[in-house]
This record gives sequence, C-alpha cells and structure tokens, in this order.
Amino acid sequence: MKTATVLMTALVVGAMVFATGASAQTVHYPGGKSTFDGKCAVCHQAGGKGMDGLAPPLVEYPGKYASSSDGRAQLGHTVMYGMFGPIKVKEKSYNFKMPSFASLSDEEIADVLNYVVFDLNAQHGSAKPFDASEVKAWRAGPLDQTAVHQRREAVVKGLGL
Ligand code: HEC
Repeated sequence: MKTATVLMTALVVGAMVFATGASAQTVHYPGGKSTFDGKCAVCHQAGGKGMDGLAPPLVEYPGKYASSSDGRAQLGHTVMYGMFGPIKVKEKSYNFKMPSFASLSDEEIADVLNYVVFDLNAQHGSAKPFDASEVKAWRAGPLDQTAVHQRREAVVKGLGL
C-alpha cells in the first residue's frame, strides 16, 4: 500500500513537471516548425540558435527585421533567393552561403517566417504575422544572392544593429 502511494505521488509530480516543461515551449506555428526542422535546422540548428562558422542564429535579428517593411521583405528574399557575402550578427561574423528555397510555396515561406519570428524570437515589437499574399509580392523582382546581401546591409544599418 505504502509503496503504491509513493509511486502514485512520483507519477503525479512527474506528470506536472512534464506538463510545465511542455507549456514553456508552446509552438504557435507547427507547420513552420516542421519546415524549419526539416530544411533549416541542419545549418541554423534546432530552435535557430545558430552555429559558429556556419550559420547565424535566428533568435534576435529576425524579430527586429519583422517590424519594418524593408526588413520583412529582407526575410522573405533571404529564404526565397538565398544570400551570399560576409555578415555580422551581434559582433560575430559568418560567411557561408544561405541556399535558395524558391521551391517552397508562399504559404510555407510565410509559415516558416512566422515560426522564426514569433516562436523563436522573444521580441518582435508590433510585427504582424506574415501571410501568403505578402510573400507572393516579394517574388515579383528576382534578386541574386549578392543583391540580397547588399539589401541586408541597408536594413541592418537602418535598424541600428
Ligand atoms: C546550408 C546551410 C543553411 C540552410 C539549410 C539554411 N540557411 Fe539560412 N543562412 C545560412 C547562412 C550561411 C546565412 C548567412 C549568409 C551570409 O553570410 O550571407 C543564412 C542566413 C539566414 C537568414 C538571415 C539572417 C540575418 O540576420 O540576416 C535567415 C532569415 C535565414 N538564413 C533563414 C533560413 C531559413 C528559414 C531556412 C530554411 C528554410 C534556412 N535559413 C536554411 C545557412 C543556411
């Protein structure tokens, strides 16, 4: 009897700990998360924490880009066209190639950006969620990866990052 009570208590406490842990990582954009885990995490790592010398973290700057229209377009262009050229994120340098994901649908790009900005970035100002029509408009003028890089310089400068 006594053993059973102890076991029950352990189970209940265990379940509570598990539930708390799970709610701390609520995902609002599960579709975006599955695209991210399948296509982006190989370089940017799970949760977008980045990897020195390979790919930048995505847990702070994207949330800042998302509050300006140039910054939002920059996020979309980076995913649909890729980016090439040296960049800095919080004083750390990266210089590798972000591949193009032009084959993702407008919905998938909107969803993966929503996951990055709203699930991975603690701060995103007053940014509104991305939708497919916003992404569609960004496809209008194809850019090469160097042009995307040049625009990033302007966006980062404009935001004072
Ligand atoms: C092969 C590795 C690789 C994969 C896969 C990859 N990225 Fe990247 N990503 C990079 C690199 C490298 C950079 C920086 C490029 C540079 O130095 O110009 C970057 C940059 C970015 C940036 C710009 C960050 C900034 O501060 O300007 C965003 C946003 C981004 N990636 C999102 C994604 C998303 C979303 C996916 C999945 C759909 C993805 N990446 C897949 C390597 C990768």
